[in-house]
Amino acid sequence: MTMRLDERLRAIAAFVVEGSRVADIGTDHAQLAIELIRSGRASKVIAADLNAGPLEAARKNISAAGLEDRIDVRLGDGLTVLEAGEVDAVCMAGMGGALMVEILSNDVSRSIGRLILQPMNAVERLRQWLELNGWAIVDEDLAEVGGIVYEIICAERGGRSNAETKRSRSPLLKKLLNARIEKLKRVAASMEKSSTAVQTEKYRRLRAELEELSGGDND
Ligand SMILES: C[S@@+](CC[C@H](N)C(=O)[O-])C[C@H]1O[C@@H](n2cnc3c(N)ncnc32)[C@H](O)[C@@H]1O
Repeated sequence: MTMRLDERLRAIAAFVVEGSRVADIGTDHAQLAIELIRSGRASKVIAADLNAGPLEAARKNISAAGLEDRIDVRLGDGLTVLEAGEVDAVCMAGMGGALMVEILSNDVSRSIGRLILQPMNAVERLRQWLELNGWAIVDEDLAEVGGIVYEIICAERGGRSNAETKRSRSPLLKKLLNARIEKLKRVAASMEKSSTAVQTEKYRRLRAELEELSGGDND
């Protein structure tokens, strides 16, 4: 079976260190897991999901790719499917940032060297949590699929944070920031209909972020 990996999954796979043992948590269709084994980038992959339906899709695709003996498929919640020390890296993609934080709060994460995360939201909150919990953001990247720009974070335990990331040089950064500004403006406009909403901390923070993103020119 041939399956073309989209730019988002390609950017995630690119952060996997050659020869590492990887868990893809929330694997769903297992496209990432399959690519990591097919390309020879990962030496071992565990593909896990909380739900039986997605895991069934994963099994079907893995079997169509003839990789049943190379990819270990597991049903369960987050990192609970892993033994400490079983993998070098964990990928999580297509989930909310808050769910990722919850999943990473499991002790097994202490034995993991590298995280590759593609959160759907709460990206700043996830970055802050990582930095406060012993992870250094060593690189970040952006990828566009169907007009949407996705953020990918690569963090290492005990690594050194890096400000000069692939993200900071990406031609997609402007598009990402414009989309964020438009979203914040819509939320601000909706809050401004209520005299109590504009007194809240949420509104104050929102205006501050808008100002920072648009350099003071946000009306
Ligand atoms: C939107 S899909 C993303 C699939 C794939 N990772 C991707 O990025 O294309 C999210 C998957 O995460 C799974 N999931 C949600 N919560 C989970 C948890 N606590 N542990 C493991 N998997 C979870 C869902 O069942 C679903 O299959």
